[in-house]
Amino acid sequence: MYHAIISGTGSALGAQKVTNEDLSHKLDTSDAWIQERTGIQSRYLAQEGQTTASLAYDAACKALEDAAVAATDVDLIVVATATPDMHFPSVATQVQGMLDIKKCTALDVSAACSGFLYALDTAFNKIQLGQAKKALVIGAEVLSRIVNWEDRATAVLFADGAGAVLLEATEETQGVIGVDIYSDGSFGDLLKTVGGPGSSGQQGLIEMQGREVFKQAVSKLAEVVDFSLEKYNFKAEDIDFLVPHQANKRIIDATAKKLKLDASKVVLTVSEHANTSAASVPLALDTANKEGKFKKGDLLLLEAFGAGFTWGSSLIRWQK
Ligand code: ACO
Repeated sequence: MYHAIISGTGSALGAQKVTNEDLSHKLDTSDAWIQERTGIQSRYLAQEGQTTASLAYDAACKALEDAAVAATDVDLIVVATATPDMHFPSVATQVQGMLDIKKCTALDVSAACSGFLYALDTAFNKIQLGQAKKALVIGAEVLSRIVNWEDRATAVLFADGAGAVLLEATEETQGVIGVDIYSDGSFGDLLKTVGGPGSSGQQGLIEMQGREVFKQAVSKLAEVVDFSLEKYNFKAEDIDFLVPHQANKRIIDATAKKLKLDASKVVLTVSEHANTSAASVPLALDTANKEGKFKKGDLLLLEAFGAGFTWGSSLIRWQK
């Protein structure tokens, strides 16, 4: 069995920064309400010419540059997204085409906000089995195109962006310790798109019962982080950084409190980026990496929760 290390990270954002104040001119909302309930101050929205694939490609290029690896060496691309630009080809093969990689394995995975962990799990397993050596694992979304801009309860939450990591096989050094992903389809109605997609040509728009989603997110995340620490034989005090899905600062605070983690150990980007679904964890990872927060050997706990419901976590030894 091979090990897998993260050797590079990258990210890309929608071209237009939109503040809470900007939104309050279009919706019956306020900066105070949004900040108090979510911790969000701004978000970046894709502009004309930006697509899920173009954001994914930009993030991938930066991850490759960070790892000093040529695109032609990549043998696996996994893209997590809930907002592909079209039904097919997949975003992953679009990225492959843009990177001019003539032959590799490329696929999309769909698990809403937990998508990056699902993609990481796929790539990690293929690397462990010796079926891939250098994998681009990407989360990319243009959620602004499936937001109901008349629904203030959801419109203020979601945003656009992409995050990518290059995952490389090694024989000696352990980076990814484990990835654990779960789902429970009985909660599907609490967070879904309504009115598409499909052959109707309509685009489905996000509909969410926020309060119920909030409760389930807090409880499932508490359960999964406990389980993960126990499974891999760690204690909460071993964690150097929590890299959570950036949906809501109150959900993140609840997980950090449960783990008794000081705020300095929590990577928090929701205030600037809002909820970018599958992109949020790798976007947070890249932001912290570029800020020089992590040092070699640090133990990172990644976690996410999203529509489905889907949820999961991963423990990673930072080896860059
Ligand atoms: N501005 C002002 N008022 C608002 C807004 C807004 N943007 N949105 C809702 N309100 C009002 C409501 O109408 C309601 O008014 P009322 O009391 O007069 O009826 C009041 O604020 C309270 O609404 P709630 O929905 O109960 O507010 P809550 O405290 O639950 O916060 C929120 C809402 C932020 C959506 C929260 O429930 C939440 O974060 N839920 C979880 C979302 C999440 O984590 N999703 C993760 C997965 S996302 C994915 O998978 C794609």
